Amino acid sequence: MKKLKVGIIGFGTVGTGVFKVLQNYKEITVKKIAVKNLNKKRNIENFDEKLLTNNAFEIANDPEIDVIIEVAGGVNPTFDILKTAINNGKHIVTANKELLAKKGSELFQIAKEKNVVILYEAAVAGGIPIIMPVKTILCANKISKIAAILNGTTNYILTKMHEQNLSYETALKQAQELGYAETDPTGDVEGFDAAYKISILSTISFNKKVSIDKIYREGITKITAQDIKSAAELGYRIKLIAMGQVLENGKIDVRVHPMLVAKKHLLAKVNNATNSIMLTGYPVGDLILTGPGAGSEPTASSVVGDLLVLASELEYSNAPLPQSICHHDEIADQIEIGETFNEYYISINASNNPGAIGIIGTICGKNNINISTIMQKGVKDDNTAEIVVITEKSKESDVQNALKELLQSDSIKNIDNLLRVMN
Ligand SMILES: NC(=O)c1ccc[n+]([C@@H]2O[C@H](COP(=O)([O-])OP(=O)(O)OC[C@H]3O[C@@H](n4cnc5c(N)ncnc54)[C@H](OP(=O)(O)O)[C@@H]3O)[C@@H](O)[C@H]2O)c1
Repeated sequence: MKKLKVGIIGFGTVGTGVFKVLQNYKEITVKKIAVKNLNKKRNIENFDEKLLTNNAFEIANDPEIDVIIEVAGGVNPTFDILKTAINNGKHIVTANKELLAKKGSELFQIAKEKNVVILYEAAVAGGIPIIMPVKTILCANKISKIAAILNGTTNYILTKMHEQNLSYETALKQAQELGYAETDPTGDVEGFDAAYKISILSTISFNKKVSIDKIYREGITKITAQDIKSAAELGYRIKLIAMGQVLENGKIDVRVHPMLVAKKHLLAKVNNATNSIMLTGYPVGDLILTGPGAGSEPTASSVVGDLLVLASELEYSNAPLPQSICHHDEIADQIEIGETFNEYYISINASNNPGAIGIIGTICGKNNINISTIMQKGVKDDNTAEIVVITEKSKESDVQNALKELLQSDSIKNIDNLLRVMN
């Protein structure tokens, strides 16, 4: 194999992991590493500080560098750096899901014109191989559905809320203390990170560009200890699910929101920071891949894997790998959340009078919603009761209309939560 020269942009959790793993490959030389702060102490044995630069464009413009590994994150200035590198004929390996979700189409278009490739196994579910399998060995399939746990931080918080009966706030604090959640956890807990990942995964799975702007997204910040408890009593676990499916009419339904997942479902058994992807395709059927969705070494596994595939291919040809070209030609016709059909969990705070359950039943019936379970959770000091309803499959817009109508009734004090259900 000819010697490959790489430049690494970013030397944090993932970058240092990649650098360490690359020490095992004599045929690969790391020529330069870009960081933000040259004064930061780098705890790596025998590390030559002369490799560092605080000008990433130096790497993007270096004629000797064949491949850029981008593990800095964010859109600015990363997009401009990668655009420059691609225009200079360099191949890209990246872990940056935000950049791909927001600017992927543009980057892939320039890469196509320049006959270079962008590989991004690490951008979705860290150490779990999913991008390359979908593009290579699963290419004989028509993939119709993905349901996945793609964010370790939220899965860790929900697991602790369930196991230790914690509030969301306490579980988040614990996760921050243990390094599972960032000081500003917004990207994870509000579902942005999972939305970036499902936009990338559903685009390559359904062969249509899924727009990040049209993905319905809801995080886990409104989940209460009571929701977790009620869900458990009903035989469910609450998980942040990223899902994508092709409907019978060809439209695409992609969203991220918490769901009650039946205990027997494999995704309900995925705990702590682990990620899991369930994929349904023809002819393969149902597949499930589970493993570490983040972390220095698991993510380095995917980054270096991409790099080695590229290195071996470049030995034989300078043409891009066919499986690494991303199809963005056809735009997905994505549906709104109101058009989706789901089973629902509705937690209602109602006056403790005999008519409340009847009112809920009547209003649901009027809005085409069949109730499969209704449960009253005791009476509070203010003489209100918590009523939990599980519905049969219903249209989201009908459910939203029913909730509005319920709130107009004197007997209904509040809708505490609405979650979708996966059996
Ligand atoms: N962490 C994970 O487990 C994981 C898993 C999958 C994917 N990813 C993705 O991988 C990427 C990196 O994540 P990370 O956790 O490794 O981040 P990180 O620990 O915060 O490291 C970011 C690195 O990028 C450098 N950097 C920031 N801005 C830069 C700029 N303008 N020019 C040059 N270098 C710059 C920083 O420099 P300084 O060191 O000087 O601050 C730092 O070394 C992100 O896109 C993330 O979404 C991460």
